[in-house]
Amino acid sequence: MLLTSDILDEKDPILRTVSEEVTFPLTKEDKETMNTMIEYLRNSQIPKISEEYNLRPGWGMSAIQLGVPKRYFVVVSELTGPDDEKKEFETYVMINPRIISNSVEQIYVDEGEGCLSVNRPVEGIVPRYARVTMEAYDMEGRKIHVRAREDLAICFQHELDHLNGILFVDHIDPKNPYKGKDQMRGI
Ligand code: NI
Repeated sequence: MLLTSDILDEKDPILRTVSEEVTFPLTKEDKETMNTMIEYLRNSQIPKISEEYNLRPGWGMSAIQLGVPKRYFVVVSELTGPDDEKKEFETYVMINPRIISNSVEQIYVDEGEGCLSVNRPVEGIVPRYARVTMEAYDMEGRKIHVRAREDLAICFQHELDHLNGILFVDHIDPKNPYKGKDQMRGI
């Protein structure tokens, strides 16, 4: 079982790698890595389990955060509220993803973005598209299109950045961490 301490920290230069395209069929190792990532993200959002194993909650993870320099990420989005006994999740496995269209409108996370690789408070906002359509491949190698908006769109853009060696903190100007705030919508 993957623990929070297994996820690379921002100080690790491996996170700066530009990841390589994935070829199909997937290797056994890649399938296992994807399933491990899904399991972590689901467990981290189930309070009973996250408390027991001290898992930092997250809903997106890229392979490079486990030291695997391949272009895929996983997003596990909660469909039911935190108090529900039986949680349901929507799971996205995005392989060789790219943005094929985006909104003009930009948004940012009011309370600041978070990342399982950034273990410190960060002040500032990250401009993101409010809506994106992403093309990717699923685990069987089928081409998929996913339309995402609001927080899901932000998550997809955050993870895509990881595949290019970019962390959310890179988007923040330390001298002016709220630059452009008035031209965007906070969510
Ligand atoms: Ni991240």
